[in-house]
Parts: sequence; structure tokens; C-alpha cells
Amino acid sequence: MAEFIKINGDTFEPFITEEQIRKRVKELAVHINADYAGKTPIFIGVLNGSFIFLADLIREINVDCEMDFFKLSSYGDAKISSGQVKLLKNLNCEVAGRDILVVEDIVDSGLSIAFIKNIIEKENPKTLKFVSLLLKKGVPKIDFPIDYVGFEIPPDFVIGYGLDYAQKVRNLKSIYRLSPQGSIKPE
Ligand code: IMP
Ligand code: MG
Repeated sequence: MAEFIKINGDTFEPFITEEQIRKRVKELAVHINADYAGKTPIFIGVLNGSFIFLADLIREINVDCEMDFFKLSSYGDAKISSGQVKLLKNLNCEVAGRDILVVEDIVDSGLSIAFIKNIIEKENPKTLKFVSLLLKKGVPKIDFPIDYVGFEIPPDFVIGYGLDYAQKVRNLKSIYRLSPQGSIKPE
């Protein structure tokens, strides 16, 4: 049984289990495999958060594929987006004429994914689609769809399975969410 976790005085409660994640990642891969049959997509991970999700997803993909990474920074060490997206590492692959799948851990305000869409579209991909393990319901201010979504979640701060809190706890095997104020760990 997953336990409550305390970090810097904040309590996080179990939210999405390893089993639920594994099952959903496989389901997403079934859709992607069908949609990209006979093609050679490039999976573009958004570092740092997406590295665990992408690693699991890619191993369920059975079409020829390639991979590359963007590295963005927007949150700093806070739990609330700074509203500023910085490009820390650009792509090293040729995007023109290719089928591109951008892979995110979570879409929150949508700023990061909109920023990435803008960069990639300038390079004339053949197709461009978006995958996100998590999507904060009603929050993203984007005018385009996230094509493959693992879980729609309430707008709570979540950690684990790649998602950090002040750069820590990315290594948790399941996903936890910030408990409401005053929540106390049951003994
Ligand atoms: P957005 O630009 O607001 O959509 O946020 C995108 C990035 O912020 C994600 O790729 C995550 O890396 C990070 N992020 C957003 N929400 C959370 C959260 O609840 N926990 C941890 N990181 C988050
Ligand atoms: Mg991210």
C-alpha cells in the first residue's frame, strides 16, 4: 500500500497507482501503434518530467520510431508556474516532413506545449500530435487538442513518476497529489 508522503511540510496522498499507470500507458500505445502503422514517427520528449513516461511508452510501441528531446524550464522550484517558458535544450533532429509526437508528463497552463508547438511548426513537420500522461481539467489555455491523454485530473499539484517537487521525488513509482490543507497522515 502506498503511503502518504511529507515534503517541506506539505502532505501528498496516493493518487494514481503503478498498476493504473502501466495499464493506461499500454492503452495509449495501442492507439498510437494503430495510428502510426507503416510510419516512422519521431517521439519528442519534454525534459525533465516526461523521461519516465516516455521510457515506458516507447517500449510499448511496435512501429519503427526515433526519439529526441527538448528541455524546458518553467516552474523553477515552485508549485505554481512562473508563466515563463525557457528553452534550455533544442532538438537535434530534422523535423521537416516527419511525423512528430510530442510527449509531455503533464499539461497544466498549456504554456509549455503551446511554446513547443510554435517551435516545431516553424520546421514544417508532416504531422504534429501531442501525448500527455496527465491533463489538468479545465486549466490549459490552448486552442488545439492534446491527441493522447493518459488521465484527466483535477487542478491539484502532483508528484512522482517523473514529476518533481523542487527537483525531487521524480523517482516515485506512482503519482501522488497534494492533500488539502490540514490533511493529517493517518497512523
Ligand atoms: P504548463 O506549461 O503550465 O502546462 O506546465 C508544464 C510543465 O510544468 C509540465 O511539463 C511539468 O513539468 C510542470 N508541471 C505542471 N504541473 C505540475 C504538477 O502538478 N507537478 C509537477 N510538475 C508540474
Ligand atoms: Mg514537463
